[in-house]
Amino acid sequence: MELAVIGCGYVGLVSGACLASLGHRVIGVDTDAERIAQLQAGRVPIYEPGLAELIAAQTRQKRLRFTTDTTSAVHAAGVIFIAVGTPPFDHGGADLTMLFAVVDQVIQAANGPKTLVIKSTVPPGTGEQIAARVASCRHPLEVVSNPEFLREGAAVQDFLQPDRIVFGANSQAGLEILRELYQPLIDHGYAIFSMSRQSAELTKFAANAMLAMRVSFINEISLLAFAVGADIESVRVGIGADHRIGPAFLKAGVGYGGSCFPKDVAALAYRMRQANLEPHLLDSIAKVNARQKALFAQRIIETLRGLDHPRVAVWGLAFKPDTDDMREAPSLDVLRHLLTAGLTISAYDPQAMDNARRILGERVQWQRDICACTRGADAIALLTDWPVFITQNWEHIATLMRGRHVFDGRNCLASGKVAAAGLHYHAVGRPPVAPGAGRQGAMGVIPAG
Ligand SMILES: NC(=O)c1ccc[n+]([C@@H]2O[C@H](COP(=O)([O-])OP(=O)(O)OC[C@H]3O[C@@H](n4cnc5c(N)ncnc54)[C@H](O)[C@@H]3O)[C@@H](O)[C@H]2O)c1
Repeated sequence: MELAVIGCGYVGLVSGACLASLGHRVIGVDTDAERIAQLQAGRVPIYEPGLAELIAAQTRQKRLRFTTDTTSAVHAAGVIFIAVGTPPFDHGGADLTMLFAVVDQVIQAANGPKTLVIKSTVPPGTGEQIAARVASCRHPLEVVSNPEFLREGAAVQDFLQPDRIVFGANSQAGLEILRELYQPLIDHGYAIFSMSRQSAELTKFAANAMLAMRVSFINEISLLAFAVGADIESVRVGIGADHRIGPAFLKAGVGYGGSCFPKDVAALAYRMRQANLEPHLLDSIAKVNARQKALFAQRIIETLRGLDHPRVAVWGLAFKPDTDDMREAPSLDVLRHLLTAGLTISAYDPQAMDNARRILGERVQWQRDICACTRGADAIALLTDWPVFITQNWEHIATLMRGRHVFDGRNCLASGKVAAAGLHYHAVGRPPVAPGAGRQGAMGVIPAG
């Protein structure tokens, strides 16, 4: 099929390249001329494992091309994916300005019947609004919902090997188009769930809110674990083994972030208020997350209080590993707290340095590698669990530092190795480990009998 994907960000680029790899002919459209020029020159403007290779292969096969010209793309395509951003307003509701601007462009440019596939995450009921709007078009425009569940860092794999694909259509014709688009994945046996547009829209929001809720839940429990001397890692394993609970998204840490969870939780709460329903639980998810970041920063500030010009080496800035995405990264709030307290910050991230620098400016000393970042630091604060941080030689790291404290905001370091190197290990919801000490009550499964 001939497709246009409007919006070449994380979702649009991955969707476009993957749909091309399923055999469709895809035109990626973006208003950002620099982004399109880069893509046309074979450079991929975001970091996402496997994406550059996929785009290169599909471009070579002539199944994928890029343009800034929406009209020509709409003319050429029978199916138009909309994958533009839906950022939050200050009140938490989703700003759909960009989405409706694209809808209007499609209405203007349509030269025949088309299908509009809404990939952007939108509040339940948005499909109805779009359907009402496109009724003014002189050509029939079918509106369907196909929310995207990919995770940055594993986006290509998530698109091509999904847990499920959700089709939201209020007509048989819309459903048929969606089936045709995804036929190769259907043939491979991936699960398809067909439902109404409103249900599909709500499924996406509810999935993100549920995941954010699990993170906030374990983070709240981690505070009590710390207060009573329990180890949240043992508790996590203990509850995650219950098949009704499961182990995923139960890792205590410095809070969730990214372009989706914070904004989707807020937008869902706002949508509930619009329906005159009080979102008690949704409001608490965000509050717990904000407190988690503040408390982590507070522990660092308290520990270093009284030192002359305390210096913190921040390891990791991206909201999670394998991405350069800094949107709503927990590191931003933690760094702001540390900077406000007058601490000197030296920071390093394998991929997100440029994006972080654009947001935080020159108040932070940006470093090119882990060693430069750590040299002379009183404390390390690990904020993103990139594998390269986990595999460090702690004997060597200790020689670079002025102080002796390691704050593990992702509970990912081997506490025994850190302590054996003469460092104090501080994690989230776990008892601190003093230099030279091994961890007490290590986790493990006791064999039966
Ligand atoms: N990033 C994720 O992990 C993820 C996952 C699932 C769903 N989503 C949802 O997908 C949507 C897109 O997210 P994203 O992270 O890809 O956003 P993004 O900001 O990375 O990309 C959006 C792109 O749309 C372009 N754009 C804006 N207006 C345009 C227009 N009129 N014509 C053409 N291009 C235009 C922008 O220039 C930008 O490149 C959002 O609704 C988001 O909530 C994101």
